[in-house]
Amino acid sequence: LRTVARDWTCEGESERAQCYGPILDALERYFPDVEKRKSIHVLNPGCGLGRLPWEIAMRGFSCQGNEFSYFMLLVSHYILNYASNVPSASEEESKQHKIFPFIHQTTNVFKASDQIRSCSVPDVNPNDVALKDVDFSMTAGDWLEVYRDPEQPKRDVVVTCFFIDTAKNVLEFLEVISLILKDGGLWINLGPLLYHYADMENELSIELAYDEIKRLFPHFGFDILEEKSALECNYTWNKESMLKMAYKCVFSVCRKTSKKEEC
Ligand SMILES: C[S@@+](CC[C@H](N)C(=O)[O-])C[C@H]1O[C@@H](n2cnc3c(N)ncnc32)[C@H](O)[C@@H]1O
Repeated sequence: LRTVARDWTCEGESERAQCYGPILDALERYFPDVEKRKSIHVLNPGCGLGRLPWEIAMRGFSCQGNEFSYFMLLVSHYILNYASNVPSASEEESKQHKIFPFIHQTTNVFKASDQIRSCSVPDVNPNDVALKDVDFSMTAGDWLEVYRDPEQPKRDVVVTCFFIDTAKNVLEFLEVISLILKDGGLWINLGPLLYHYADMENELSIELAYDEIKRLFPHFGFDILEEKSALECNYTWNKESMLKMAYKCVFSVCRKTSKKEEC
């Protein structure tokens, strides 16, 4: 529910501005001609509930999201295809729903009313994307399996947000991003390095520091065009809580070149 609040409610607006804002801003800067964006194919693996690929498509790009969690896929399918913020004649017919995303947070609560506050889902009409006349789609499955096929069409941009640290081996992710991209294509990344498989028994997890990953960018053909570190980002944050946890994320834009350096 807190992920729903992050992606599809007014409550999540400031968090989306922190996390998705720099990515959307970079896409708009590198592709300023709105008319030509339809021919730019963006892939967003690990897209969670799909708000970021939807925002990208709403800016006129062709965009495909990918996700492997059934929980995420079922909820994003429902929101993207059946929900809406457009008012209905009656409450029964409404396609907008109320959720109580903070109901289970019993600690660090200032006011009892904070815990039981509701959010309306969605805050937009997802169907508006149909008016944009772009290719907008989602694929289901482990992105390494779906996109490693060299016969896949090459993309102009790969966008990763809070994603590369879901890898057991982050270098494998870089290898597939490089494989997917056209020469000259962009990889836009924002996120921390939480490493989701760290500390899991019987799971492989290679936990490289950001400077170690970055040193290997040239090996995968990535030239850094832009980089910012320590961008403060929350993740499924409860604004009214007494507790605030934030990541200091890295943000980078890399161009894929045809030359790959040995390391
Ligand atoms: C930390 S969440 C970030 C979601 C979204 N990008 C955001 O910023 O809200 C990482 C997402 O990647 C998905 N994921 C992890 N490994 C994946 C894989 N191998 N293939 C596809 N999706 C994956 C997870 O299910 C999860 O939804």
